[in-house]
Amino acid sequence: MTDSPVVLITRKLPEAVERRLARDYRPLFNSQDRRYATDELLELAAGADAIVATHTESFSRDVIARLPERVRAIANFSVGVDHVDLDAARERGITVTNTPEVLANATAEITMLLMLGAARRASEGERLIRENRWRSWSPSFMVGVEVTGKRLGIVGMGGVGRATAKRARGFDMEVHYHNRRRLPAELEAGAIYHESLEQMLPQCDFLALHCPGLPETRDLLNAERIALLPDGAIVVNAARGTIVDEPALIDALRSGKLAAAGLDVFKNEPDIDPAFRELDNVFLLPHIGSATRETRDAMGFRVLENLDAIFAGREPRDRVV
Ligand code: DGY
Repeated sequence: MTDSPVVLITRKLPEAVERRLARDYRPLFNSQDRRYATDELLELAAGADAIVATHTESFSRDVIARLPERVRAIANFSVGVDHVDLDAARERGITVTNTPEVLANATAEITMLLMLGAARRASEGERLIRENRWRSWSPSFMVGVEVTGKRLGIVGMGGVGRATAKRARGFDMEVHYHNRRRLPAELEAGAIYHESLEQMLPQCDFLALHCPGLPETRDLLNAERIALLPDGAIVVNAARGTIVDEPALIDALRSGKLAAAGLDVFKNEPDIDPAFRELDNVFLLPHIGSATRETRDAMGFRVLENLDAIFAGREPRDRVV
C-alpha cells in the first residue's frame, strides 16, 4: 500500500507481528536486530510516521527534539516507558503507548524463578556441575532457604505484582504489599496492605520489586531501607534496575545482611556492575521477564492495536501520553 503509514521498527519482532506490519503498513524492519545508535535511529526515522520502540532505545528530551516533525507516535513494545521522556513527547504532541497486562504472567514466572533460584542457590549449584567441581553430597552441602510458607513483600501491586502474589500463594507464602493506593478486596485477595514501605520491610523474608522505573522510584531500595529488612532476607527484582541502589545491594550481599538476591534487571544493561558476577549469592538473568513466545506475540499484537487506532483517528487503548 503506497499511502499506508511508514513505521520504523527498532528491533526484530515476532514473525506473525512483522507479517501483520508488512500487510498494513510500510515497515522499516531491523532484520539484523542491531541496537541502533542514536544518530542512526534519527536518520532512519526521517521518513517515518511512527516508531515501534523497545526499552533498548533512549528517547531522551534531546532525541525527541531531533525527531522529524512527521513522527506522530512512539508505540512501545514494552510495558515500561522509562526510556521515553514523556514530558518532552507530550510537548511535541507525540503519542506514546505501551503494552500493559500482557506481560504479567511471564514476568511473575520469572519472579518466582528468581526467588527459587536465589533461595536454593541455583547459580552456585549449576556452576559446580558445569565446571566439573561437584565431588560429593552431604547433609550440609548447598543448604539454602525454603520459600514455602515465608512472608513475601511486594512493592507495586499492579498486574505483575498481583500475578506474583497469586503464584506465591501456591507456595503458601503470606503476601504483604505496598502500593500507592490500597487495592479493593477482590484484587487484594488476602494480601496485607502497608501504607509505607518502611512499615512493610521488617515483615519481609522475601521482597519482590514490581513498581515502574520512574524518577520517584530511583534507588528506592537503598542502604537505609535494606537495613529495615530482617537479617537473611532475599530481594528479587524483575522490574527495573533503577529501583535499586546497586552498591548498597552489593554491600548487603557481601556482608550477609541479605542472604541472597535474584536479579533480572540492572542499572546499566548489558554492562552490569561486575561486582554482581563475583557474588555467589546472587542469581542473575539477562532481562528476560517477558521473554516467552506467547507474551512476545501478545506484546506485538498490542502494539498493532495501538498503531491501528492512532492511524484510524481513534483513541489508542494503551495511551501513556
Ligand atoms: C517491559 O516491557 O518493560 C520489559 O521490561 C521489556 O522491555
